[in-house]
Amino acid sequence: MKTKIISTNDVNLENELKEAGKAIREGKLVVFPTETVYGIGANALDGEAVKKIFKAKGRPQDNPLIVHISDMSQLKAVTRETSEKALLLAKEFWPGPLTILFKKSSAVPFETTAGLDTVAVRMPADKTALALISYSDRPIAAPSANTSGKPSPTRASHVIADLFGKVDMIIDGGPCKVGLESTVIDLSSEVPVILRPGSITKEQILKVIPSVEYDKALLDESLAPKSPGQKYRHYSPKAKLEVYLGESEKVVDSIKKRQSELESKGLRVGILTFDENKDIYTGSWIVSLGSRSDLDGIARNLFDALRVFDELNVDVILSEGTAEEGIGKAIFNRIFKASGGNIIYP
Ligand code: TXA
Ligand code: MG
Repeated sequence: MKTKIISTNDVNLENELKEAGKAIREGKLVVFPTETVYGIGANALDGEAVKKIFKAKGRPQDNPLIVHISDMSQLKAVTRETSEKALLLAKEFWPGPLTILFKKSSAVPFETTAGLDTVAVRMPADKTALALISYSDRPIAAPSANTSGKPSPTRASHVIADLFGKVDMIIDGGPCKVGLESTVIDLSSEVPVILRPGSITKEQILKVIPSVEYDKALLDESLAPKSPGQKYRHYSPKAKLEVYLGESEKVVDSIKKRQSELESKGLRVGILTFDENKDIYTGSWIVSLGSRSDLDGIARNLFDALRVFDELNVDVILSEGTAEEGIGKAIFNRIFKASGGNIIYP
């Protein structure tokens, strides 16, 4: 398939976005930037178009998609019921990185929801994403625009590496501002549940509704997650990832020891660390996520760093962990998933 690449810096951007909107109406695939990660979009109301997304990504059939809207009338069209809590959250956090589950309307085909009776909806904050949705005049179903299992794309180059030739159009909007996928919340139980942590934190949500908790399966690989997507090994670089948690000195010592053990076997070892510690290590493949205290910066850099290790062809990545406050919870969730739960407490 021929893939047309356009950029938000193009002088005729508006016409190109209109053309992209038309492509969505015609059942084609358009990759677009959002504030979280890039999404691979199709008309959410067209089951045949949505099937193409699953094929292009190699996505498991049982993993439902998020429907992106640009105004509240589209929420009405894709849901058959909304709750007061949902509307309060939407009012506070939309447009933005919060995805809310609703009962789906009959307009939404089961291809979009992977057979579920619920539909996940979010209104993204990125203005290119909003323009594309309104020009297409359709709600747009869009998972992250990576090959299934790989780290989500936060730059157009990541999308091109995974999906060039498999989609009709890619809109390059530069690096994503947040860098981690949206927070996903399920309001169907008495105490609402965060199915996937993101940059909208539990603390922020608690300022709007009285209670919310994390899905217990997030940190326990033996429980079945409520969100189908959370059950797969995810965000994964090609290399094996080991995460070291605890006191900084002990973590550094253990990583160094493990590094020499692996290197003596002839393996290429990458180290994922922070500015504060990066000079303590020796080796050729050391990547810093930025300052340990800048959690927003770490979130923005994480998926790119995992892809950099792929390019460096390392065999094993030894990673330090982050504090779990605020967006740190989401950062740790992605590192945890990328490692397949391979956490070491020295
Ligand atoms: O920030 C984001 O959310 C990005 C951008 C493109 O908007 N999208 C994204 O989509 O991360 P995806 O498909 O990679 O992740 C969607 C997650 C999956 O874990 C999926 O299982 C869950 O949302 N999900 C979608 N619909 C659901 C439903 N009806 N019930 C439970 N979980 C659902
Ligand atoms: Mg994804």
